[in-house]
Amino acid sequence: MTEPATATLSHHAREVIDAQLAQYPANQKRSAVLAALREVQHENDGYLTPALMDAIAAYLELAPIEVYEVATFYSMFETEPCGRHSVSICTNICCMLRGADELVAQAERTLGIKLGESTPDGRIHLKREEECLAACCGAPMLMVDHVYHENLTPEKIDRILAELK
Ligand code: FES
Repeated sequence: MTEPATATLSHHAREVIDAQLAQYPANQKRSAVLAALREVQHENDGYLTPALMDAIAAYLELAPIEVYEVATFYSMFETEPCGRHSVSICTNICCMLRGADELVAQAERTLGIKLGESTPDGRIHLKREEECLAACCGAPMLMVDHVYHENLTPEKIDRILAELK
């Protein structure tokens, strides 16, 4: 499907952005970029398009690059269509020492996709790589749609993935 060249922010997205803007001086509109991206991504099935990022830039009176650079820096933003559920397996040092690499391999086998891909039914997006999610005491861990699951075992990860509809 071809994305439209231009996009309009929803009424609710503008409300969210306006609420964020109200917390900062009038000349600091960049402070609302993260909140704007988060809301617009949520409303657009979990990913951002150039047209939506341009609409955010126009609303905040910023250069488009000022929005693109934030969207492409943070791992919580997607700029391509992806599965409904975002699964991030932490592979940083504590989780790696507790078997994260094998859990990644298991998830890839179970879902039939590689890191960075989505299942063909649009159910699950396996994030490319995730840095430390600050739950090292529960390593190995993963995050599903912002919810943490810690002390993973092979059985536990299969159960978590199977429950995602
Ligand atoms: S290394 Fe995985 S949560 Fe910190």
